[in-house]
Amino acid sequence: MTDIENPILDVQGLEKHFGGITAIDGLDMRVGDGITGLIGPNGAGKTTFFNCVTGALTPDAGRVAFEGTDITGKRPSSVAQEGLVRTFQIPRELPEMTVRENLQLAPTEQSGEQLVNTWLRGDSFTDDELRVREQATEMAEFLEIDHVLDVKAGTLSGGQRKLLELARVLLTEPDMILLDEPLAGVNPTLEKKILSRLHDLESQGYSFLFIEHDIDVIMETCDRVIVMHQGQVLTTGDPDEVKRDDRVIEAYLGEEV
Ligand SMILES: Nc1ncnc2c1ncn2[C@@H]1O[C@H](COP(=O)(O)OP(=O)(O)OP(=O)(O)O)[C@@H](O)[C@H]1O
Ligand SMILES: [Mg+2]
Repeated sequence: MTDIENPILDVQGLEKHFGGITAIDGLDMRVGDGITGLIGPNGAGKTTFFNCVTGALTPDAGRVAFEGTDITGKRPSSVAQEGLVRTFQIPRELPEMTVRENLQLAPTEQSGEQLVNTWLRGDSFTDDELRVREQATEMAEFLEIDHVLDVKAGTLSGGQRKLLELARVLLTEPDMILLDEPLAGVNPTLEKKILSRLHDLESQGYSFLFIEHDIDVIMETCDRVIVMHQGQVLTTGDPDEVKRDDRVIEAYLGEEV
């Protein structure tokens, strides 16, 4: 088993309870750079962990440090400003707005600034607005959704919505991105495209913590895997080690992993 000496994300003693349910139970986790997989059976607490770390939920106990800064209990906009963002298990685009409008909203939205809907106003653009527009176009090209820039987001396919969700978080210029099942409901062609983009982004210096149920994808994609079970980290290691670990197999109730 390996450990991370200089974690980017360092979580200690995290707890989250919902009434009588303990979703996160004194969890310690250290995440380094590259692509780290986060796996665990349904209900293990993976999404709740993301919510607690990025400020969507306030943890009941524990400490979350990102790049050496204590971000425990900070609002999502403050956490995003520190460089930590997440995508949602169910994408959260604005369906009545076009893909372009959704992308141009992204930076202001995550940084908590007021929305400045100048592109809707139709007036002349400031330099800042032109820059935001250009970045949105470049990001759409990179993720190959530029052909749907003027389409309402609500009409996109499931896979395209996942790409839009990824584009939106990338536009906030984060250091680390928490991905909550970015491949769920995505067809195999698009899945390959998303994974290939993740590798491109990794080589550009982005880090990912990647929740995914398909163990083969995790094996191919991740340098390191963290297994959660019942609100705690069960084990951490390279994909091969984790796959052979009896406790991991037991946690999945005998499912082949
Ligand atoms: N808002 C909530 N209110 C009450 N219980 C919750 C809430 N959110 C999560 N839980 C409970 O907390 C536990 C962890 O749920 P969570 O969604 O974090 O699991 P998960 O690992 O993301 O599962 P999955 O793989 O199915 O997405 C579960 O028992 C769940 O029912
Ligand atoms: Mg989940």
